[in-house]
Amino acid sequence: MAGRIPQSFIDDLVSRIDIVDLIDGFVPLKKAGKDYKACCPFHGEKTPSFTVSQDKQFYHCFGCGVHGTAIGFLIEYDQLSFVEAVEQLAHKCGLTIPIDSFSPSKPTPQDGPDLYELLEKASLYYQQQLKSHPDAKTAIEYLKNRGLSGEIAKRFDLGYVPDGWDNLMQQFEDNEKMKDALLTAGLLSKNEKGRVYDRFRDRIMFPIHDYRGRIVGFGGRIIAQGEPKYLNSPETPVFHKGSELYGLYMARNAIRDTGRALVVEGYMDVVALAQNGIDYSVATLGTATSKAHLDRIFRHAPEVVFCFDGDRAGKEAAWRALEIALPSMQDGRQASFMFLPDGEDPDSLVRTLGKEEFSILINTAKPLPEYMIDSLAAQADLSRMDGSARLAKLAKPLLEKLPQGVLRQLIKQKIEQMIGIQISVATTQQSGRTASRKEISRGTSQQGKTDIQQAIGYLLQHPEFGAKAQGLESLRDSGLPGFSMLADIVQSIQQSPAPNTAALLERFRDRKEFSRLESLASWDHIYDTEEATDAFNVLLTKFSHQISEARLNQLLEQSNENLSKDEKEELKVLLQRKN
Ligand code: UTP
Ligand code: MN
Repeated sequence: MAGRIPQSFIDDLVSRIDIVDLIDGFVPLKKAGKDYKACCPFHGEKTPSFTVSQDKQFYHCFGCGVHGTAIGFLIEYDQLSFVEAVEQLAHKCGLTIPIDSFSPSKPTPQDGPDLYELLEKASLYYQQQLKSHPDAKTAIEYLKNRGLSGEIAKRFDLGYVPDGWDNLMQQFEDNEKMKDALLTAGLLSKNEKGRVYDRFRDRIMFPIHDYRGRIVGFGGRIIAQGEPKYLNSPETPVFHKGSELYGLYMARNAIRDTGRALVVEGYMDVVALAQNGIDYSVATLGTATSKAHLDRIFRHAPEVVFCFDGDRAGKEAAWRALEIALPSMQDGRQASFMFLPDGEDPDSLVRTLGKEEFSILINTAKPLPEYMIDSLAAQADLSRMDGSARLAKLAKPLLEKLPQGVLRQLIKQKIEQMIGIQISVATTQQSGRTASRKEISRGTSQQGKTDIQQAIGYLLQHPEFGAKAQGLESLRDSGLPGFSMLADIVQSIQQSPAPNTAALLERFRDRKEFSRLESLASWDHIYDTEEATDAFNVLLTKFSHQISEARLNQLLEQSNENLSKDEKEELKVLLQRKN
């Protein structure tokens, strides 16, 4: 993917944005010497060890070892893809990603129509039909009966698709490429005989927007009775049910303002809640709540309230949501669980109760810690010793899922009080990646690094060194690990100077060594330039000796007769130099 956005554009982008500004927008930074500091947003901590370097345009946490460029920060913190991150930054600086070689996030098919444009056009068509198609009367009547106003229908871009096999198809050019694209976008279906037809027919259409407001899919509700009640877009290159949330785009400001998001199950729940003045709800798309969903929500607000049916299925779904939520519960975040009376859903209940009373229910939702402890306690008889042991056994894996912090300690303490003894809980298992990040954080120094690794580290941290690193080309064939990477970096700098560490790093994002490079860029993060210059020069001299040595051995290995006149001359010089 990265290869499709011209590297020169990334260079330009990275040199225009200021990582300090960018990160400060998410995590307020404080100036500390040359750098900026904050408590790390990626792990819970009380003293700031998250450092942002303006010179390098690079961040690094001495506590947990995370590090990266501005693009990397958006990818990690905001859960964006590379292309999404580049788009956001480009948008911030008012740059347009060069269209000739790349069209923003344009999914497959590569040279066909843009899927986003097709989906947008389809949505406009559906909205138009809701206003003007003679058959839309029943749809409008239906929506009115469910208490929805025209204004709300408009806010959610609701539409109507008339009955028929090719109403939508007819809105687009009639050729194979277009049909392929419409199929890929999930707007058409294909039967076994290969016949292609409109996927959605005679339904009320709910467009699904992504985080930027682009339409990525649809849910279509049947108007009277019938199966399926809701027909949804399939997974497509732009639509992933496991991470999209219905209504998030419309609710984002309200979520930010109220500091909370309400997670419900259905399209109609979101729309009816908004109709009744509760405009911070989102719905999962017929799937269970995922970690990706939660990360998205917690980006916008520190509190999430899950709303479930009070029946058995609802309780099971709530427990699954709890298990998914635990790893995301850093200190400062809150989650609560709200259970509805039997037979009600948020749509029906908010219409009966109205905004005020429904809000009271939201406010009295059960906090995650209580919900967790009560549910566990209900499964163990604490009047018996083996019941207490059981509680400890049930609690342990859940506690281990929680990130280290005050919340985890408090829940653990509470359970210990209940059973009367302490329980041992493993410290959070860091992912392999985090563990390896740890290794490279401050504790490790030169000793652990090969010469090549050190040289690459200096170059990444001081791209200007690349200009004077001559003669490294011949190291490429030396077969020594890392030499060709070093040569590539030098070559890249010599072809076009890199404005800073981040810009240089971004040129290598597609390489399998990228995360090693990121580590090297943050190794000995604060380093005196003069010392670095000296150390780098020493390494260059060392390499040049190694090059000579390797060449000498190569020439000596060939018998004298096989050497050309030039080679003999070279051998002489090398031998002299060695002596
Ligand atoms: P519900 O059946 O609870 O939907 O399914 P609802 O929103 O209350 O629907 P109304 O009130 O009858 O209009 C909850 C969610 O499950 C998915 C949809 O995302 C729906 O909003 N679902 C349900 C489907 O995808 N297909 C179905 O046939 C039914
Ligand atoms: Mn419903």
